[in-house]
Amino acid sequence: MKPEVQQRVMQLREQLQKASYAYYVLDNPVMEDAVYDQLYRELQDFETAYPELITPDSPTQRVGEKPATQFHSVRHHIPLYSLENAFNVEELQIWDSRWQRLVATPDASYVCELKIDGNAIALTYERGILVRGATRGDGITGEDITQNIKTIRSIPLRLDLPESLAKLADVERVEVRGEAFLPLDTFEKINAQRQKAGETLFANPRNAAAGTLRQLDSRVVAKRQLDFFAYTLHIPGMDDTSIADTQWEALQLLQSLGFRVNPNKRLCTSLGEVAAYYTDWDTERLNLPYMTDGVVVKLNSLKLQEKLGFTQKFPRWAVALKYTPEEAPTLVEKIIVNVGRTGALTPLAEMRPVQLAGTTVSRATLHNGDRIAQLDIRVGDTVIVRKAGEIIPEVLRVLPELRPEGTEPFIMPTHCPVCGQPVVKEKDEAVSRCVNISCPAILKGSIEHWVSRDALDIRGIGEKLVHQLVDRGLVSSVADLYELTTERLCELERMGQKSAEKIVMAIAQSKTQPWSRVLYGLGIRHVGAVTAQTITDKFTSVEQLANTSPAKIEAIYGIGAEIADSICQWFRISANQTLITRLQSLGLQLVNTEVVTTTTNQIFTGKTFVITGTLPTLKRDEAKAMIQQAGGKVTDSISKKTDYLVVGAEAGSKLVKATALGIKQLSEAELLELLATS
Ligand code: IVH
Repeated sequence: MKPEVQQRVMQLREQLQKASYAYYVLDNPVMEDAVYDQLYRELQDFETAYPELITPDSPTQRVGEKPATQFHSVRHHIPLYSLENAFNVEELQIWDSRWQRLVATPDASYVCELKIDGNAIALTYERGILVRGATRGDGITGEDITQNIKTIRSIPLRLDLPESLAKLADVERVEVRGEAFLPLDTFEKINAQRQKAGETLFANPRNAAAGTLRQLDSRVVAKRQLDFFAYTLHIPGMDDTSIADTQWEALQLLQSLGFRVNPNKRLCTSLGEVAAYYTDWDTERLNLPYMTDGVVVKLNSLKLQEKLGFTQKFPRWAVALKYTPEEAPTLVEKIIVNVGRTGALTPLAEMRPVQLAGTTVSRATLHNGDRIAQLDIRVGDTVIVRKAGEIIPEVLRVLPELRPEGTEPFIMPTHCPVCGQPVVKEKDEAVSRCVNISCPAILKGSIEHWVSRDALDIRGIGEKLVHQLVDRGLVSSVADLYELTTERLCELERMGQKSAEKIVMAIAQSKTQPWSRVLYGLGIRHVGAVTAQTITDKFTSVEQLANTSPAKIEAIYGIGAEIADSICQWFRISANQTLITRLQSLGLQLVNTEVVTTTTNQIFTGKTFVITGTLPTLKRDEAKAMIQQAGGKVTDSISKKTDYLVVGAEAGSKLVKATALGIKQLSEAELLELLATS
């Protein structure tokens, strides 16, 4: 073999290792994928020709050729301890005073790290080369899963030893510990594939990671894309000449050796700062692409760690400060049935309050009657509830072993619990519905939807007010909102003059909301905010939409038959036609003004307006809408590009600036006149 070959092989390995590190650890690729593949193949070819050149740290050795038949037990060089748990700041303080009693250290600092919800892994490097990767097992012995560990791209096969750390190359053994985990998106993909294949689903990313690590075929593991965060470094026999004095330095060292270290760590100098880190991450962690179940607090000084040592099970110098779990058992006290704006009957469990993901939960959705029957949820049952992120809590399953005697299966009502009319359940639907169009529950729901943020966005009208308005007979359609007066509102409970005025104003302002929001606000089944936007882009007025056929609606890209039919059915109902006529005469936007502006040349096309001061009769939003309807643009500040300043009473700096720039000024009367002549 020529010496050039040997040299080339070494160079290739180094290049590939660097590229892989940049890609998987730094998230900052330095090489195109195609280039990487080509170099990789070149190395592979050399290794096939000269098998004696293969080394265990070669990038080609990440995925094994043959599946293993079983894993071997291995004894850990140093036991893997687990951590004592604390569930709140008080318990953290107890931990703190306990260790302080042993070695009082008033100026101690703490390293806070995220507690990654994965699987602890012990890595052994001999003279800088990865020789073993093992699961935690019982902490004393684990399983040798080296071949699988090698597929994790963020685990270096060889330590990256800069000049300053060269001495580590001579160190017999270096132990690195950390957490192997599956990112959430990969977890979801795996479960989706398993569902398709009819296989049982993994309950959570930790189980999925554990299952993956114990796969006998490392080619399967490689496809699963596990990741790894390193958090401890042990260099036996180097205690005296220690190259790190603190955990904080050890983390930095791990990073320079080529490991991925979780960036969300914090060095704290008081327990108060530790508590702040814990609260900060309680919400922030929901935005991370992997699961965490708490934070790990470690004393920073390694000397102090050594002095404190371990109890039977745990290190005294660290504690896991856990977040309240997202799943918990509780008792179903009552099952109630809610009627929504579509008339759908939704059963809800009222439960003994339980702490879930940081909030107290006492209600959970049971979705529909079919699901209750399927899970056989009964009053008196102990159930598992889950709350994940923003999602409404739901009942996952029943613990049948804990069911008391004498419970009865729950039966969905055959009549609407609000108006008493019989409910309808379509053959292929799981949901039962109240179809009485004057059912107060449906009316309340549709008004709440009309005023909601993505619809007409009327601030100041909440659930309680809607209930009062409907119950007192003040509102029996969304159009009635526009005829409410301050006097009328003032008659309601806890309603002052000021709030009433604000509400009337907010209602009037909603008349300027675009046609797409009005369509969404109507609450037609299957028409969400995005669908409404798509439809109003094509059907630029209510007339066009009301007089079209399902086929023409369905012709829009992204709109299916279900939506198209639902819209056409809605417009066929005479009560709905009356509503549209009323909304039209009340001045709501049932035409796409933006499109009109661009297609026809209007009086204010291309002109920019600024409005300042209080106008005598028009509200600012009304004036704005009128200008926009005539093709003009309204901005907030004066610049050289401003064409007109509309001036009202008590105008301030904008008027001064406009005068200085010589911008044309209009009174409300002049504006109205221009509009009238257009
Ligand atoms: S340190 C002796 N740091 O939590 C101290 N553990 O409940 C050993 N874990 O078995 C652990 N993130 O699997 C440490 N930043 C972190 C961690 C972490 C997750 C896991 C680890 C351990 C378990 C203890």
